[in-house]
Amino acid sequence: MTQQKKLWSGRFTEPTNQLVEAFTESVSFDSRLYRQDIRGSIAHSKMLAKIGVLTDDEARAIEDGLARIQNKIEAGEFEWSTELEDVHMNIEARLTEDIGDTGKKLHTGRSRNDQVATDIRLYMREACSHTVECLRALQAKIVTAAEQEIDTILPGFTHLQVAQPVSLGHHLLAWYEMLDRDAARVEDCLKRVNIMPLGAAALAGTSFPIDRHYTCELLEFSEPSRNSLDSVSDRDFLIEYASAASLIMMHLSRMCEDLILWASENYKFIDIGDAFCTGSSIMPQKKNPDIAELVRGKSARVIGNLQSLLVLMKAQPLTYNRDNQEDKPAIFDSVDTVYACLRVFAEMIPSIKFNRDAMYQAALKGYATATDLADYLVVKQVPFRDAHEIVGNTVHYAIEQGKPLEALSLEELQGFGPMITQDVFAVLTLEGSVNARDHIGGTAPRQVKMAVKAAQQHLDEQSS
Ligand code: ARG
Repeated sequence: MTQQKKLWSGRFTEPTNQLVEAFTESVSFDSRLYRQDIRGSIAHSKMLAKIGVLTDDEARAIEDGLARIQNKIEAGEFEWSTELEDVHMNIEARLTEDIGDTGKKLHTGRSRNDQVATDIRLYMREACSHTVECLRALQAKIVTAAEQEIDTILPGFTHLQVAQPVSLGHHLLAWYEMLDRDAARVEDCLKRVNIMPLGAAALAGTSFPIDRHYTCELLEFSEPSRNSLDSVSDRDFLIEYASAASLIMMHLSRMCEDLILWASENYKFIDIGDAFCTGSSIMPQKKNPDIAELVRGKSARVIGNLQSLLVLMKAQPLTYNRDNQEDKPAIFDSVDTVYACLRVFAEMIPSIKFNRDAMYQAALKGYATATDLADYLVVKQVPFRDAHEIVGNTVHYAIEQGKPLEALSLEELQGFGPMITQDVFAVLTLEGSVNARDHIGGTAPRQVKMAVKAAQQHLDEQSS
């Protein structure tokens, strides 16, 4: 194969070493920015025509040529060349090949430094919007499940020890809240993504009288960036997304952990649909919650990518440095992984069967209503600290008897607290316990019902 002439080869006398070519190329991963690259180039060309640097005919030839290249790429007929290094030079070289010398005018007043910054911001703008859509879709599935499980009672845990009975709907809505913060974070990140660096050229701006407001409008950015040096070197917006993505994955990993525990033989709180589980090659009886485990595992990659990007940018002198090319594998991987995990998790949720009885039986164990007994004593004028002590002694006694609290007789209970009367037994039931927590944010089914409504309304507003 004959070597292609590099677009920057003017000052060079020797050809590029083969190893260097393979080492420096980025087209193997940045070719996926072709749409953004072409869109940015078309806007730049229109702007050059507006200020008289290109004739209208030239701009039209460039735009038509770029549109044809896009069609070729999408038809799988474009030949990417690592010799041409990256997506930008592959497309520009092909344009010149197709339309002749006019193609060589496209790069006037522009550099790959502001070009790549523009491309990646256009890409991230879509990525942010799509991430929010995926989050909302998962939230909707969670709210639907929560609505069906408002009256289901399971043990709430602290330290993974039975703490107090809670509504399963309430537990699921806790997941909804985590994802709601995630969506807000990605939406906030989008504000800083949506700033246009084009026009910064290599670093200092350009001597041509460019109209940055015009390109900004064409590319639908909210405003042109204010400092050319910052424009070509800033990658904060990627780190912000990578950070929001890490939080999303951390949240998913926590939900997965709940599901993995709940699906285990010792809990048996749920059955995950067969379509979302896999078997063992040796143990015929096994049905493993692999999706949940893999999502939990993939959180490591996304959190690692955040670390990579932070270290990539740490101590980089102004302005653009080639190091920045390494931003793409990390951010693409985070975006792809977050999409994949949110999608599969959302699909899996409706496949889960909640074993209401197993949850209820588990909540009956572990003295989950002990706090309710203490609260009952407080109503009977016992100071809370004393009530805590009395109930502690009662629980100790009940454990020795091998009985739950509600199985103790009134006389036995009165042995610890003489003020206890018959009405205590209503307080000791699981239903009594959850119903009692009837305030904003509490687990009483009445509150959970309202929380489900509010969540549904919020999601409706977001989608309209
Ligand atoms: N492939 C490069 C990147 O991703 C494009 C910018 C190259 N700029 C340069 N001055 N070599 O960052």
